[in-house]
Amino acid sequence: MKKNYRKLFPMLNNQIVYLDNAALTQKPISVINAGSQFYKKYAISTRTSDSKLGIIVQQKVDLVRQKVANLLNGSPNEIIFTSGTTQSLNLFSLMAKQLLNVGDEILLSYYNHSSNIIPWLEIAKELKLQVKFSKNLVADINHKTKIIAYSQVTNNIDQHFDSDSIYQKAKQFNAIVVNDAAQAIAHEKVSFANSDIIAFSTNKLYGPTGLGILAIKQDILQSINPVIFGGGSVEKMIDVNSWCKKQTIEAFEPGTLNLAAIWQFEQALNLIDEITIDEIQKINLELANYLYDRLLTVKGIEIFSQKGDFITLFRIKNYAPQDIASYLGHKDIYVRSGNFCSKALSFAELENDYVRVSLAFYNNKNDINKLVKALKEGGDFLSFI
Ligand code: ALA
Repeated sequence: MKKNYRKLFPMLNNQIVYLDNAALTQKPISVINAGSQFYKKYAISTRTSDSKLGIIVQQKVDLVRQKVANLLNGSPNEIIFTSGTTQSLNLFSLMAKQLLNVGDEILLSYYNHSSNIIPWLEIAKELKLQVKFSKNLVADINHKTKIIAYSQVTNNIDQHFDSDSIYQKAKQFNAIVVNDAAQAIAHEKVSFANSDIIAFSTNKLYGPTGLGILAIKQDILQSINPVIFGGGSVEKMIDVNSWCKKQTIEAFEPGTLNLAAIWQFEQALNLIDEITIDEIQKINLELANYLYDRLLTVKGIEIFSQKGDFITLFRIKNYAPQDIASYLGHKDIYVRSGNFCSKALSFAELENDYVRVSLAFYNNKNDINKLVKALKEGGDFLSFI
């Protein structure tokens, strides 16, 4: 990487080793500044659109919506702003009730995050649908399958799903593919070419917390109605008992959007455009290979990921993963432990918890050296256990 992008991230100048990028990515100064710029200069609601600043704010929302559409190979009228991946997946599952009937099957991957499991279990209970967990999604899609919900890139054991094959088989059976792209969005192409529904959080793409995307393909969008209602989504009331929704995507976005976050996310998207996903992949792969080799030198370690995985899970013999993460965390080395909200992992004959190291392009070999050094020195702290 020619430019030193790391120096753009103030949190990383605080002498911390940040290796929990699957949970939250750090924010470049451009994203941080854009938030204060909004509140200092443009803090006008889109509802106040008949004004000089109101027009600027509306134009910004339109522009960012267009940029997200470009990122996903969609069109702006398929992009809904939400508060994050969890809200996106919950919202879509509620809307999907309109498309499902008794006996229909929902196919879930064992490796899904809870946000892409529990909403489906709840709906299945209510509508008497079948839920099937699968280790091989392509093989398990059948004539009863109506929804296939999975993550293009998982936040736990790295699964190399063949998204194209899943999508092709799904289309043979007219099933809808829901792609939880929370992790994939920062690492590889995410597209409507092999997904019908895409959910992600800007928080994991160097953008602000509290903003997410729910992208719904036009043909599906046309056959569902919103499930939350309020200002901005209503075209008119027909009489005192009935109303009709707007014909634009705003019908799915009642309430004031997180405008400051939209302002900030534009800057995150600009940064990704500048660096490019290809370059990010290259950097991450080199770091991931280095991480794997260095971790192998730690006594008692068992690595549950493949060399080159951007998310690496490990355990150290005789030590609880939580204790290792806590020990590291108190040395300002940030990793996560547990099962990462992926509660069905235990049904796939996997361990219940791990230590997780997740990389971003701003990490460097020094971060990894510090992690490994701390693990090797850990004796003092860890031997109390
Ligand atoms: N889903 C986030 C993670 O994997 C919070 O850590």
